[in-house]
Amino acid sequence: MLSIALLLLVGLVVAQQPRPCTSPSQWEARIISHINNENITVQGKLSYDSVYQRERFIEQVVIGDDYYYETIALFQVRLEFVINLTARNCSRLPLTRPWRDFSIRPDAHSYGEAYIGSSASPSTGLLITLWGGNYTTPSNDTVNYIGTWTYEACLPVSHTSIHPKYGITHDSFYDVSGGISDPNVFIPPRECLSDKEYAIRHTLFGASPK
Ligand SMILES: *[C@@H]1O[C@H](CO)[C@@H](O)[C@H](O)[C@H]1NC(C)=O
Ligand SMILES: *[C@@H]1O[C@H](CO)[C@@H](O)[C@H](O)[C@H]1NC(C)=O
Ligand SMILES: *[C@@H]1O[C@H](CO)[C@@H](O)[C@H](O)[C@H]1NC(C)=O
Ligand SMILES: *[C@@H]1O[C@H](CO)[C@@H](O)[C@H](O)[C@H]1NC(C)=O
Ligand SMILES: *[C@@H]1O[C@H](CO)[C@@H](O)[C@H](O)[C@H]1NC(C)=O
Repeated sequence: MLSIALLLLVGLVVAQQPRPCTSPSQWEARIISHINNENITVQGKLSYDSVYQRERFIEQVVIGDDYYYETIALFQVRLEFVINLTARNCSRLPLTRPWRDFSIRPDAHSYGEAYIGSSASPSTGLLITLWGGNYTTPSNDTVNYIGTWTYEACLPVSHTSIHPKYGITHDSFYDVSGGISDPNVFIPPRECLSDKEYAIRHTLFGASPK
């Protein structure tokens, strides 16, 4: 009985062989993010740029903390600016966590397709694809993850990852739009920069950071 079930399962997997789709490399979205290690859930706006590996996140709703932050993370130069929106001050920190890629990795394992909501009618459901797997970061940590993307256009819908040091992070994405509406979002605000840096901020933090 079990071997028949297994054979059927293998047959299904071989017959389907879905290919990972390609997500846009730059987009913006509303996200809800739960960081288990910190017991914090935040909702806010994320600008995501995988071309230059940078992220800007501005918190709009926070559960589990009293303060709101804006974060500009520049992974290529390993720098993070954390702006405390309550105190309007800024910390400049070395970036140690790895770049989070929200596209489907080429070696991801397919977990099939499904409708969020229901397939009963076009307005009750959204067809998504499910992918997961693991990868090893430059610091040799193995991260396990599972995520979902829209079947059409390959837009991120949800992402859960388990990092041995940073714990479980869960992100849900809404209102995704392609591209970055304002390229200046990755330029740290005045309170993060010295006068000298501020004067040349576009050169330092513009489209292709050095
Ligand atoms: C998060 O909550 C759990 C359970 O309430 C607690 O044990 C843990 O210390 C909390 N972590 C932080 C960083 O507050
Ligand atoms: C952010 O600012 C608030 C209010 O000024 C302060 O109480 C809080 O500790 C600050 N957060 C951090 C991480 O410094
Ligand atoms: C920002 O201001 C808050 C409250 O005045 C203070 O607790 C915090 O240490 C400050 N952070 C920085 C980076 O200056
Ligand atoms: C990681 O993924 C590979 C295939 O990509 C798989 O063979 C391996 O069992 C996975 N390891 C863990 C710990 O999940
Ligand atoms: C990475 O981790 C694995 C297993 O934890 C270990 O076998 C391997 O030697 C490590 N590699 C490096 C470069 O540290």
